[in-house]
Amino acid sequence: MAERDAARSFEVRTYGCQMNVHDSERLSGMLEEAGYVRAPKDTEADVVVFNTCAVRENADNRLYGNLGHLRPVKQNHPGTQIAVGGCLAQKDRSEIVRRAPWVDVVFGTHNLGSLPTLLERARHNEEAEVEILESLDVFPSTLPARRESAYSGWVSVSVGCNNTCTFCIVPALRGKEKDRRPGDVLAEVQALVDEGVLEVTLLGQNVNAYGVEFGDRLAFGKLLRSCGEIDGLERVRFTSPHPRDFTDDVIEAMAETPNVCHQLHMPLQSGSDRVLKAMRRSYRSERYLNILRKVREAMPDAAITTDIIVGFPGETEEDFEQTLEVVREARFSSAFTFQYSKRPGTPAADLPGQLPKEVVQQRYERLVALQNEMSWELNKELVGTEVELLVAEGEGRKDSETRRLSGRARDGRLVHFAPDGAIDREIRPGDVVHTAVTRAAPHHLVADGEITAHRRTRAGDHWEVGERPKTSGVSLGLPSFGAPQPQPAAEQGCAC
Ligand code: SF4
Ligand code: F3S
Repeated sequence: MAERDAARSFEVRTYGCQMNVHDSERLSGMLEEAGYVRAPKDTEADVVVFNTCAVRENADNRLYGNLGHLRPVKQNHPGTQIAVGGCLAQKDRSEIVRRAPWVDVVFGTHNLGSLPTLLERARHNEEAEVEILESLDVFPSTLPARRESAYSGWVSVSVGCNNTCTFCIVPALRGKEKDRRPGDVLAEVQALVDEGVLEVTLLGQNVNAYGVEFGDRLAFGKLLRSCGEIDGLERVRFTSPHPRDFTDDVIEAMAETPNVCHQLHMPLQSGSDRVLKAMRRSYRSERYLNILRKVREAMPDAAITTDIIVGFPGETEEDFEQTLEVVREARFSSAFTFQYSKRPGTPAADLPGQLPKEVVQQRYERLVALQNEMSWELNKELVGTEVELLVAEGEGRKDSETRRLSGRARDGRLVHFAPDGAIDREIRPGDVVHTAVTRAAPHHLVADGEITAHRRTRAGDHWEVGERPKTSGVSLGLPSFGAPQPQPAAEQGCAC
């Protein structure tokens, strides 16, 4: 088979939740370590990797559509390889090469590390390689990574989930929960901080169940406290906790550990106990609200966000009203709201009482309107307060019209700021600034006033021209550009 270049280029296309975003950092890291180079933007890569999500009803149509577009590309460029991995690959397995025989490699969620070998083998044998494992082979965190941000990094504490929510396909595709040892998690956090990262987000499908595998119910709170002892680590976040496993010691650890941000993203899914039961979510709305009360008692400035599904099978108008009631009481600073859609392979897909699209749409609009009102109200309360911002890339691109930059406050809120002279001060993504909120919108804040402090950081230094970090080549990897951001709910899907 003809070679196109000495160093073959690659592109990874990512769909789905933060887990996949982070897995893609590993895929890129491994490919770079194996000698591949990232394809420059707007060029055709020699190797295209799809890291797929199976949450959406039409996820497979979307994948096969994309694969169809690549077929002529491959015909015109012999040597091009296409690999499909992630959740949909775990689910569809060899069905993928049956429907798209021009695909070269299929790998699953449990064997990310096999990708370079499978690509090599497929090239050598000139036939498709399909390798799906039933359980985790190597914890992905031991693989090299090509970090997408110089200042903010994901760190997995666990993968998989032991719950059985009836709308969710994740346990079937990611398996039972597997926990990393605390020492390994902390070593990875430390390595990131050594490279200049200021913020880490601890990741798990059910992050606060962490410890279940090694029998320590308090492990997650302890982990937060240990993160508090890492010098130079300024912000610790985590996603997503499950209300069932949310224990008081985690609230205490959040409140007492200065670098743990007062931000909590905790999925509600429904405010109706009847619907929660049908979803097999093992908490009730009162328990949920009670956790929020305790969080606010310990951290009055906490920003709390959530995920809500509207139109679960059998949801009545009364059930929906209960969700609205909980939303009013909970005072979420924002919510990822999404309309229930059947997810093939989940128990809820076969439940009676699937609702007409118009009903779901109408309820969804009512919920969004209420949440927007609440978000705006809470944001207005922040006008006049001081904020510390970690300047963001992407969102923080210099806007030539308004000369605005953006950053995230400690509580996770997005703040746009545009002071005179900001550009002159050479504020870079990854730097830290202090300013005051002058205006509020439903989904962001504006700080048009003076920057009272600007701290240049090592992460910001990466931004200087000519200093872009390259690939890791070592087990943990150098950070690069672009902050990991929460995925929109529609993409996040399960979003537990
Ligand atoms: Fe697990 Fe979350 Fe899915 Fe429920 S929604 S099964 S807690 S991953
Ligand atoms: Fe998988 Fe995440 Fe989608 S775990 S199914 S990529 S939401």
